[in-house]
Amino acid sequence: MVIGNENNHIDETEKLLKLVRKKPLPVHVAIIMDGNGRWAKKRGLHRIAGHRQGVETLRDVIKVSDELGIKHLTIFAFSTENWKRPVSEVNALIDLLVEYLRREVMELHSKNVKIVILGCLDAFSHSVQQEIKRAVELTSNNTGLNINIALNYGGRAEIIRAVKNIAKDVYDKKLSPDDIDEKLFGNYLYTANIPDPDLLIRTSGEFRISNFLLYQIAYTELVFTHSDILWPDFNKKAYLEAIIEYQSRQRRYGGINA
Ligand code: IPE
Ligand code: IPE
Ligand code: MG
Repeated sequence: MVIGNENNHIDETEKLLKLVRKKPLPVHVAIIMDGNGRWAKKRGLHRIAGHRQGVETLRDVIKVSDELGIKHLTIFAFSTENWKRPVSEVNALIDLLVEYLRREVMELHSKNVKIVILGCLDAFSHSVQQEIKRAVELTSNNTGLNINIALNYGGRAEIIRAVKNIAKDVYDKKLSPDDIDEKLFGNYLYTANIPDPDLLIRTSGEFRISNFLLYQIAYTELVFTHSDILWPDFNKKAYLEAIIEYQSRQRRYGGINA
């Protein structure tokens, strides 16, 4: 392939698309969208310009997911640890999300997309909560692509919340300790009714989980891009390549191959 030749790039994407359609697709793709800050720094821009560009990538990834017929796309938008960042960056990230929802929710709704939030919204201002709830309620009966937005989300906080709620229900005699099994526990997580991710992608060359979906990724296939693909660089080709990598894996779940 000649780098920089747009036609060749399109041809190659078409080829990848054909390949991807030949094998079973992941039902649930989860993504740690990482590297916006480094993308901006490389260009001498402010980190927030990287986050803004990251929204463009997200738009494309949603489009491709919808085209492929992927059922669940879970995106890590803001972690419980991201509050450690400067207030100006935290506010910019939240503003970008609200701006995105305000601008795109009608189009997503027309495409039958359902928006779900994983995480605790209490930490956000009333107007931010209203905007998010509006998008969730508007799309709540849609049956197409589910976009699960992990917002003020942390895997450990999620598990502790589940344990507390189970303890309360036992205390209130709604549950007996013997009722607690993996299925019941799963129903107390933010991801109740969402199947575990088949594929987890992290961009930017960081090979860690950073407190994302700790309980749910027990048997998820992990794909990490190298550091040359920061989130704003994650285009359709990179996404299709990650799915092809997933399709090449043998999932054994502790068993052996037939
Ligand atoms: C990911 O990019 C965006 C969020 C955490 C919301 P980063 O902001 O973490 O970018 P890097 O890792 O500093 O490059
Ligand atoms: C994970 O990325 C969180 C999101 C993408 C929202 P971070 O950039 O916060 O993770 P660390 O700090 O590098 O582990
Ligand atoms: Mg990061």
